[in-house]
Amino acid sequence: MDETTHQNAERARKILVLHGPNLNLLGRREPAVYGSASLAEIDATLLDEAAKHDTELRIVQSNHEGELTDALHGAIDWADGVLFNPGGYTHTSVALRDAVAAVGIPTVEVHLSNVAAREQFRQRSLIAPVCIGTVTGFGRQSYLLGLLGLLVYLRERDSASGRGSR
Ligand code: DQA
Repeated sequence: MDETTHQNAERARKILVLHGPNLNLLGRREPAVYGSASLAEIDATLLDEAAKHDTELRIVQSNHEGELTDALHGAIDWADGVLFNPGGYTHTSVALRDAVAAVGIPTVEVHLSNVAAREQFRQRSLIAPVCIGTVTGFGRQSYLLGLLGLLVYLRERDSASGRGSR
């Protein structure tokens, strides 16, 4: 498991960015489907955007279902939101769906490719029903759009409830 924490400001919002299996190979992996950007480049774009929004990111990539589950559990007392590309586990993992539901942290599912336009087995997500929304098909920009959507969701939720940033 590869994990990095980047802090931008005091009282920052805290977002766990979780990348599932095979996403460590982005840039080399089926570029016609997933684009030519590496995961490091995608993470750098997210960090730049997060810095503009007083937001701290913890970024984890793992090829292992149990490690992804542990990362979600580890976010329970820390993260305001989760940006999650579960990769192939999207379509198979009851455990990850249960983990997202169990921690109760607002989660956005993201996909680089338009999974709705691909093989039938990719057209069902076990994770999406426990997420606040899904962004799919915009390549690397799916992550950016997902982060912005998550931040808007948190801001509106907090202003509706009169809460502060946490
Ligand atoms: C993916 C889509 C999944 O179906 C696939 O297994 C991936 C990548 C995407 O980002 O487009 O690993 O999550």
